Amino acid sequence: MKETTAIAHPNFALVKYWGKKDSNQNRPAMSSISITVDSMQSKTKIFKNTQSNCHRLFINGMEETDLSKILPSLFYLSEISKSDDYLIIQSENNFPTSSGLASSASGIASFVTAYGAHYELNLGLRDRIEACILGSGSAPRSLIGGFVLMDHNNNYSCTQILQKADWPVDVLICIASEETKEISSRQGMEISKRTSPLYQDWLGANEKHISLALKAIKEKDMGRLEKVTEENCNFMHEVMKTSKPSIIYMNDVTHSCVAEIENLRASGHKLFYTIDAGPQVKIICDPKSTNTIKDTITHGTDVIDIIHAGLGESPRIIDED
Ligand code: PMV
Repeated sequence: MKETTAIAHPNFALVKYWGKKDSNQNRPAMSSISITVDSMQSKTKIFKNTQSNCHRLFINGMEETDLSKILPSLFYLSEISKSDDYLIIQSENNFPTSSGLASSASGIASFVTAYGAHYELNLGLRDRIEACILGSGSAPRSLIGGFVLMDHNNNYSCTQILQKADWPVDVLICIASEETKEISSRQGMEISKRTSPLYQDWLGANEKHISLALKAIKEKDMGRLEKVTEENCNFMHEVMKTSKPSIIYMNDVTHSCVAEIENLRASGHKLFYTIDAGPQVKIICDPKSTNTIKDTITHGTDVIDIIHAGLGESPRIIDED
């Protein structure tokens, strides 16, 4: 039986999206800038379900009962393929799932890539963006490698700003907890949009943050990228905190990582952090400082693990035979 497998990498936003314009279509209310990383990946295999009349999704070998993220993408794609096949979808992440490590972005992007190849659809980027966005607002960014801009003023076009070879920064993902988050980003964003007194200011800051980050990336200016990335991250977490109920994803380990990052910076290392809807801290750094940063964070905090990555590529089909 025909099986198709694709790999896609997660992406982490430097200028984040938190809030949707349209919840039904899952449209972000703002633009975002991200980096796609290499050593973390989702590997998704699809094939026809010949045993029952339903789609079945397995993540890391466990069957999922909630298919609400994947079905809108699948329905979009089956309109194009004209296929009424029921599918078995088997997805595996080589990193903790649903804990603020963008597993839904890489999961959806790998699924969309596998589906396009399985039905030989030869999909253009526009259709792949549309299929991804229905599953996760940040997933389209995983379709592109390196530094990526997703522009909400231009129908969520995704473009590469720089590729790995242009600016080969390192990324250290500090695992502060492997627990699944209690409030999904989807729920959290809705709560913030409805209740945070800072939400309008947050929306208003997006354009400025995007233009500052774009300039800093194009000029490979670590100092200015640090400033805008951390400001954007801390603003998002203030929006979360001032929501009702208050949403707090950071824990004590997160805070001790940030303190160590500030110490390292004070002693001359080039690095900065960002934190998403989970307690993990992502450090972007000059590769010359990677070993010192790893040692300092390992010894100075209670992190569970540090994943070392560089900038990654766009998704690809793999041959598993
Ligand atoms: O749409 P989601 O669930 O992938 O939301 C992503 C939310 C953040 O990771 C916090 C920010 C971002 O832009 O990636």
